[in-house]
Amino acid sequence: MSLPQWKVTRSTNPTPDVERERIIEKPVFGANLTDHQVVCVWEKEKGWVSAEVIPYGPIMMDPSSAVLHYGQEIFEGIKAYRHQDGSIWTFRPEENAKRLQRSAHRMALPELPTELFIESLRQLIAVDGAWVPAPVDEKTLYFRPFEIAAENFLGVRAAQRAEYRVIASPVGPYFTGGLKPVSIWIALDSARAGKHGTGEAKTGGNYAASLLAQGEGYENGCSQVMFLDAETATYIEELGGMNLFFVYRDGHVVTPSLDGTILRGITRDSVVTLIKDRGLKVEERKISLDEVRAGIQSGEIAEVFACGTAAVITPVGEFKSREETLSISTEPGELTTSLREELTGIQYGKVADRHSWMVKLAD
Ligand code: PLP
Ligand code: COI
Repeated sequence: MSLPQWKVTRSTNPTPDVERERIIEKPVFGANLTDHQVVCVWEKEKGWVSAEVIPYGPIMMDPSSAVLHYGQEIFEGIKAYRHQDGSIWTFRPEENAKRLQRSAHRMALPELPTELFIESLRQLIAVDGAWVPAPVDEKTLYFRPFEIAAENFLGVRAAQRAEYRVIASPVGPYFTGGLKPVSIWIALDSARAGKHGTGEAKTGGNYAASLLAQGEGYENGCSQVMFLDAETATYIEELGGMNLFFVYRDGHVVTPSLDGTILRGITRDSVVTLIKDRGLKVEERKISLDEVRAGIQSGEIAEVFACGTAAVITPVGEFKSREETLSISTEPGELTTSLREELTGIQYGKVADRHSWMVKLAD
C-alpha cells in the first residue's frame, strides 16, 4: 500500500523564542506542548489517506465520536535526545512502532506502518526541533504518538475511521526528587489487567484502571503503584507506568516475565541486554510478593529499580501497603546507578551505541 505524501502547515503564531527557551530550561513533564502536531487519517476502505503536520491546537470532535464512548485508543511514549553537536536522535523507534502495531491489533485499530511512524517523528522535529532541550539534567523532548477511533457512530464495533496523532512536550525527570529512591504503593484491592485482557497493549483503559490505586498511593506518600496478578494477587506484575527489576546480593537480577498482562517495555528489554552484556544473569520469571518480602527482609534483595521511557531508571526505596512497609534503601543502588548512567550515556551520545539503538532525526 502506498503511503500518503506529507503536507506541512506551519503555525502563524508560534511560541516566542524567549518563552520557548524559558520553558525548555525547566520543563515539567507534560505541562507544555510544542507548536505543531502530526495528524494521519485512516479510512477502512482506503487505508492511510493523509499525513500532515499542522499547528498545535484542540481536536474538533463530534460528541458521538467512538473513542469518547468505548475507549478505543492506544498510545506510545518515546523521546528525542539532543547530542553535544546539536543533532537530534531517538531511541529504538522501530520497537515503539511495532508495539503500536501490536496495541492496534489488540484494540481493533489500524496498524500504522513503521516507516510512517518514524517519519512522523522526523516531520515533527523538522518544525519543532528547537523544542528539544540541551543535553543536561536528563532533559529531552517527549513524543506522545497516539491513535484514536474517530468515527461518529454509537454502535459497538471497531471504528471505520481512525486518526494517528503525535504531540510533543519538553520534559525533565518524571520524578522530581532527583535520584532519590521512590516509594511504591502495593495495590491490594485493584488489578490493572487480567488473562487475555489488554495488559500488554498500551491503551488508555489500562491507565484509567490504575488511577484509583494510584490516588491511594499518593495519599500514602507513594509516587507509583505496583500491581499484582489479577487471578491470584500473588505475583508482581509492574507499576502503573513502569517495569520493575530486583537485584540480588549475589549479582543476579530478576524481572517479571512477559506473560501477556504487562507492557513489553523497551527500556526493560534494553536493560536486560545491558545487564547481560556485563556478564550478569537476568531471570525473566514469575516473582511473588512473598519472595520479594523475604528477600528484602533478609537483605538478599539489595536493589530494586523501575524503568520506562518517562522514568528512565529510577531506584525504588520502599514498598508500602495498608498492611506493611518493606524498606530497601534510602540511597540508589550501585547497579541501578551505573545502568542509568550507561543507558542515558548511550541516549545522549556519550557512550558507544554498540547495539545500534540510536536513530538520527535531524542534523
Ligand atoms: N509499563 C507501563 C504500564 C508503561 O506505561 C510503561 C511506559 O511506557 C512501561 C512499562 C515502560 O515501557 P517503555 O520502557 O517502553 O517506556
Ligand atoms: C512512558 O514512559 O512513556 C509512559 O507512557 C509512562 C507514563 C508514566 C508517562
